Amino acid sequence: MSFESLWASQSAIGRDPDTGGYRRGGWTPTEREATHWFTDQCAARNLTLESDGIGNLIAWWNPPQDPAFRPGIVTGSHLDSVIDGGAFDGPLGVVSALAAVDVLRAEGFVPSVPIGIGAFVEEEGSRFGMPCLGSRVAAGVLPPEKALGLTDRAGVTLAAALEEAGIDPAGVARSPLLERMGTFVELHVEQGRGLTAPVGVASSIWPHGRYRFTFRGEANHAGTTLMEDRHDPMLTYAMTALAANKQARLAGARATFGRLSVEPNGTNAVPSQVTAWLDARAADDATLQSLLAAITKQATERAERDGTTLDVVPESVSPVVDFPTGLRDRLVDVLDGAPVLPTGAGHDAGVFSAAGIPTAMLFVRNPTGISHSPAEFAEPDDCLAGVDALAAVLKDLAT
Ligand code: GLV
Ligand code: MN
Ligand code: MN
Repeated sequence: MSFESLWASQSAIGRDPDTGGYRRGGWTPTEREATHWFTDQCAARNLTLESDGIGNLIAWWNPPQDPAFRPGIVTGSHLDSVIDGGAFDGPLGVVSALAAVDVLRAEGFVPSVPIGIGAFVEEEGSRFGMPCLGSRVAAGVLPPEKALGLTDRAGVTLAAALEEAGIDPAGVARSPLLERMGTFVELHVEQGRGLTAPVGVASSIWPHGRYRFTFRGEANHAGTTLMEDRHDPMLTYAMTALAANKQARLAGARATFGRLSVEPNGTNAVPSQVTAWLDARAADDATLQSLLAAITKQATERAERDGTTLDVVPESVSPVVDFPTGLRDRLVDVLDGAPVLPTGAGHDAGVFSAAGIPTAMLFVRNPTGISHSPAEFAEPDDCLAGVDALAAVLKDLAT
């Protein structure tokens, strides 16, 4: 099937017709619909589908002379989205993988080692707060009992969400799927403006931390409480958000407060508590640590002045990932000198690489650099170049 038809066959799933934003949170009905679309596509191609306890999937194209499974070349990405996400982050890698297999089969290529197409669950962590949730459990870096106890914003545990999706939580474990992942190559839309060629190759993934900041103060009346009598955690938070922005600029890093929860969240009451989630990233682990320390110090000093308190809890911290240079250079050679660039975005490829699986990434140009937004975009010609690049890489690795 052509890339365009494949793309169109899944592009309405979970998309808000008014905003164009996608809502495919892990194990929600829309994400399950996207997963069914994937399993249908795999069945139509006679790929052998394997699933693990949490719902990660790999569909295999086995060499005909060698039906017994052995480690192969896995490509693919994820089908879930951030809240109001774009069309490309995740699905581009899955659709391109299916299209690349179609290209190779149309050419009459027969792999010497199995080629797998993976779809890994809850990569964005948009529902349960943990990025790369499926791949972390699969790789054994997030214990199943910790994963199953995570809750979404409605208080639903992962265990309950799995049950609701028809998946037995007792099966959640380190994944046997990864034993067959000899090499992983993820194609992904580029998420900044760093790539000016149609296709590039990743050098590294920046370290990334998600931290929960809880600011506590004293609820009080918005009309009668003198300004100087207040212990308003919103003020401590507001100054912390400004400090985060300034410290990130000074460090050449990134810091974002993109999620907030306010108690009691009433217009005419000084809040009692503000919970804010900091997403911080930097080029190296030391810079990320000193960035967090600088933001926390300023927040703590401000809390003292406001008569509020602050707790900071790391919810997930991922160290830098440097992709192996041998595999990276091989991809660059296959792609006639494609540019190499780092990324500040997180990926399942980072989890698999850290777990010791030889891993590489291909990026498809993003002309505006906008991502995690309905405005995320890649030109159709660049997507087709991505499919050709992925097909060439798979052919090289599976020959
Ligand atoms: C995922 O795309 C992330 O970088 O947060
Ligand atoms: Mn992604
Ligand atoms: Mn993303």
